[in-house]
Amino acid sequence: MTYYDQVAEAAAFLKSRLGSLAPKVGIVLGSGLGAAAQAVANPVIVPYAEIPHFPQSTVEGHSGRIVAGALNGSPVVIMQGRVHYYEGYSPLEVTFPMRVLGLLGVRVVVLTNAAGGIHAEYHPGQLVLLADHINQMGWNPLNGPNEPRFAVRPAAGLRFFDMTEAYSKALRALAKKAALEEGFSLEEGVYLATPGPSFETPAEIRAFRALGATLVGMSTVPETIVARHMGIEVLGISCVTNLAAGLGSTPLSHEEVSETGRQVENRLAALLKRLAPRIPATVGAES
Ligand code: HPA
Repeated sequence: MTYYDQVAEAAAFLKSRLGSLAPKVGIVLGSGLGAAAQAVANPVIVPYAEIPHFPQSTVEGHSGRIVAGALNGSPVVIMQGRVHYYEGYSPLEVTFPMRVLGLLGVRVVVLTNAAGGIHAEYHPGQLVLLADHINQMGWNPLNGPNEPRFAVRPAAGLRFFDMTEAYSKALRALAKKAALEEGFSLEEGVYLATPGPSFETPAEIRAFRALGATLVGMSTVPETIVARHMGIEVLGISCVTNLAAGLGSTPLSHEEVSETGRQVENRLAALLKRLAPRIPATVGAES
């Protein structure tokens, strides 16, 4: 069975479980950021383990289930938990769920993650919009033959394609407005992805800052690349869970990342609730 056929089988399975729900908006919730899933009304819950060919998440704080339903009245499909390269998954496995969301009908995806803050003015607990990224994974998930059948709109699915607005400007403007209504402001940053799983050294963080990065993490970039290949619009939101290596006074730990995530997940959920009904029209994905 080809990779495309596996994705199609997983998407068909999910479609049958979702019934009449046809969400155009997908949301991926990162480490410790699961609260938005609890805000979904009449949820259809599908554990990843039940979906054919779907990779299983092995990290603590990542539940590994699909939660689909109405978020503030608007249909969404949420991935609560993602898989990472450092878990031993291949680039194709890491991006399998994004391909499935595309074939399911998703036209806009909100990618959230926990990240280390490189910018001197970021503080733990702050939410930052991704304006751009730097791929330091050492690989690209599109390596290999191009598969044009993954395109979700006419001009997509190309071998070579533009990444100058990988993270939608219109969606960023929408998110800033919604955040202000919630009483906080959203800065824009540049997210650099490393393969992990070790945190960075202080010298790496200095190097990444010199490269123009303001955030560092171990996910999101492969998903964004694959989403853009399909023609899916992307909104990226990092939760700064800690100061990057060498910038704070305490050693980095997964506990610190999870704990800060827990403190911020309700604010993120409130933001996503406000955003959900406004997203489809912003990118012309109502139908
Ligand atoms: N580095 C890499 N990934 C992370 C960090 C970090 O400091 N914090 C949360 N995810």
